[in-house]
Amino acid sequence: MLQKLDHKIKNRKILSRPFTYLATTIPFMQQQFNELIDSYLENEIGIHTHFLHPALIKGLQANILQLQKENLMFPAGIGNRGIKDDNQQMRGDQIYWMDAGHDNLFEQEFLQLATDFMLQMNRTCYTGMNDFEFHYAHYQTGTGYKPHTDQFANDNHRQFSLINYLNDDWEEKDGGALWAHAADGIQKISPDAGKTVLFNSETMLHEVKPSTRSRMSITGWLKQI
Ligand code: OGA
Ligand code: MN
Repeated sequence: MLQKLDHKIKNRKILSRPFTYLATTIPFMQQQFNELIDSYLENEIGIHTHFLHPALIKGLQANILQLQKENLMFPAGIGNRGIKDDNQQMRGDQIYWMDAGHDNLFEQEFLQLATDFMLQMNRTCYTGMNDFEFHYAHYQTGTGYKPHTDQFANDNHRQFSLINYLNDDWEEKDGGALWAHAADGIQKISPDAGKTVLFNSETMLHEVKPSTRSRMSITGWLKQI
């Protein structure tokens, strides 16, 4: 299924469809989108426990396992091309960038969902976003991501972080929680399959606690460029 993936990181622009696509979004999806947006507006960190449907979760999980098997996932760097922090101990995940041009229906479905969600945010919150980027992420046992925010020091395009978890039967003893340092205290969020979180990329300090089993997600950023 994934053999045809072009594993060179080339053009990360993925908005290959026109912005009118929302017209086909069924009301059920808009309801889900609004629940996540409302949760963000109320709590500073939005949480939706059933944002991805089960078949999509299964497909994306299989993609990560296949990418691992084919050695296509690589340790994530810190910072962007211009500024590279020297502390590679910051984060332990391996990543692979998504692209709507990849020959994979689950990847395409996810990116369409992200497009529709971004447009719903623009419609309801006037956020004016016009681009995004997403990658698969796989944290091996014992790894995490130290406290950080998601905007680069020399690039403020990232507006919102949208993280989608893919882990079945996750238990508290497995660790791997996302700790979000919100104004009214730390929120600890377990990375359960189907759960999606939304927060401000510039201001929300957050970290991933090390886990005792491997941890899979789709992580990305809604942008204004
Ligand atoms: C990130 C990140 C959080 C998580 O990739 O920048 O903070 O819970 N991920 O995976
Ligand atoms: Mn982050």
